[in-house]
Amino acid sequence: MPVITCIDDLKRIYARRTPKMFYDYAESGSYTEQTFRDNTNDFSRIRLRQRVARDLSGRVLETSMIGQKVSMPVALAPVGSTGMQCPDGEIKAARAAAAFGVPFTLSTMSICSIEDVAAASPTPFWFQIYAMRDEDFVDAIIERARAAKCSALVVTLDLQILGQRHKDLKNGLTSPPKLTLPNLINMATKPRWALGMLQTPRRSFRNVIGHVKGVKDLSNLTAWANEQFDPKLDWSKVTRIRDQWGGKFILKGVLDPDDARMAADAGADAIIVSNHGGRQLDGALSSIRALPSIVRAVGDRVEVHMDGGIRTGQDVLKAVAMGAKSTYIGRSFIYGLGAMGQAGVTKALEIIQKELDITMALCGERNIKDLGRHNLLVPKDFEGDWADQ
Ligand code: GLV
Repeated sequence: MPVITCIDDLKRIYARRTPKMFYDYAESGSYTEQTFRDNTNDFSRIRLRQRVARDLSGRVLETSMIGQKVSMPVALAPVGSTGMQCPDGEIKAARAAAAFGVPFTLSTMSICSIEDVAAASPTPFWFQIYAMRDEDFVDAIIERARAAKCSALVVTLDLQILGQRHKDLKNGLTSPPKLTLPNLINMATKPRWALGMLQTPRRSFRNVIGHVKGVKDLSNLTAWANEQFDPKLDWSKVTRIRDQWGGKFILKGVLDPDDARMAADAGADAIIVSNHGGRQLDGALSSIRALPSIVRAVGDRVEVHMDGGIRTGQDVLKAVAMGAKSTYIGRSFIYGLGAMGQAGVTKALEIIQKELDITMALCGERNIKDLGRHNLLVPKDFEGDWADQ
């Protein structure tokens, strides 16, 4: 086993151990993948200010998200089909996050169900939903999240219709994979994955199977999204979900200051600046570029979180210094999970925590709460000098 020093090392092992269709599912953006690439590349346009001869003892990364203590400003983002990246993936990721003291967010499109994860996780987790045409399904899943003692509801706003990811169509992505000859050949080269999958009963979308009426094809996210996701989502539906839930409420997928204001008006406890990991509107701004204008618009009214492109602790530091209260990792923990299961998620969190801690120190700071624009060198044109509309 090579020495693992960074998230990229986990990614290389993940690529070897995971069937191609699930690797490709995670490692894709929509269409030309411009926004997917920008999410990571734009972090490297921001530079850090080195400060010296400052007291660096007793450093603190602990902070809070929506009033909950977190050991660092990083949560695990909802990722569909996580239980296909690794057998019982959601359970393993939830356990790793709980032990680390950061939130785990379970996707509606998960393989392990809310109940599966609740039975296995030592601490409450967060639950993510989409608005669905079938309001009975939405109401029922909210009640299931409540019964499972989920401590926040995350509503995804940017996926009422699915952006096309070319590789998924080419690979014929389904969960579980159809047993075609190419799939069987590929899975035969991933014995650890295949054996684990044979040993778990959790191989399809267990939040949904048996809980929805009249859905024909549940193995295929595109077909299901086309049938079920509500193209008529509007702010009144968002507030209906908020009232039905009644607890901590996070709105995910905001990339525009006007939408951010409306999300704050809708009573969100936090918003997540996100372009869905570059998987939806190709050509949208990267999350880190969109972040400052949203912080200016609503930062005093609602917690602003962000996801998209975080692969290092330096990225977390940059996002926090740009005004995000906290961040989420999706692919970075999936790489760890696919590489080494629960231990790999822990490893991913440890890598990011260590990078964040040392980078904060080298910036001359001792407390994550003291980070700000004074730690950064941001290009003058970073936010874009766009023509008036
Ligand atoms: C689901 O949310 C996806 O991006 O595939």
